[in-house]
Amino acid sequence: MEPHIPPTCHRCPALAANRSRVVPGYGPAPARVMFVGEAPGYRGADVTGVPFTRDRSGRRLQALLIRLGLSLEADPAVERPRLRGCYLTNLVRCNPPDNRRPTRAEIGACLPYLLAELERVQPRILVPVGLLAAQVLLKHLLGRPAGRMRELHARPIRIEPGTCPGPPEVILPLRHPSRASNEDLETFTSALSALLE
Ligand code: URA
Repeated sequence: MEPHIPPTCHRCPALAANRSRVVPGYGPAPARVMFVGEAPGYRGADVTGVPFTRDRSGRRLQALLIRLGLSLEADPAVERPRLRGCYLTNLVRCNPPDNRRPTRAEIGACLPYLLAELERVQPRILVPVGLLAAQVLLKHLLGRPAGRMRELHARPIRIEPGTCPGPPEVILPLRHPSRASNEDLETFTSALSALLE
C-alpha cells in the first residue's frame, strides 16, 4: 500500500513543532520530470502548501518551468501553477526551524513518502535541486557519492536499466535556484530541453 503523508505526521518532533503545514508533492502523476528540493521554504511552500512557490527560489524555478513548457502559466508568481508533465516535491515535507537544512534522520523519516511518489509519478527524468538532494538521491538510487555541484549541475547521469527500481532513466542535477546564476539556469534549460525532445 502506497504511503501518503498524513497532514498530522509527527515522525520528526522538531519539524512538526515548527511547520505551518505539511507540504506534499504537487503536480500530475504520472509525469515525465520530477524535481526534488530540500524542504519547504518558510517564506514559500510553508505558506502556500505548494513546493517551490512564492519565495525567490520558487519563482526562479517556476520561471524555468514556464520556459520549458512544463508549466502552463505565464507568471512565475502563480501559487497553484498548472503543471504539464512535471511534478514538484522535497526530501522532507515540513519547514525546519530557522530554515535550517533537514538532518539525515529527518530525511530518512520522510524517505518512504518520496519513494512512494517516485513509484506513483514514474518520472523518466529526475532533477535533484541542490547538492543535498543530489547527495541523497545518488546515494539511495545508485549507491554512489555525489561529489561537487560544480561537476553535477546540468550534466545528465544516465541510469542503466535494472540498476535501480523502475524509472528514472536520467538524473539531471540542478544547482539550487537560491544560488544559481542566470547562466546556470540557461545551461540547465538547454540540457533539460534536449532530454525532453
Ligand atoms: N522551496 C521548496 O519547496 N524547496 C526548496 O528546496 C526550496 C524552496
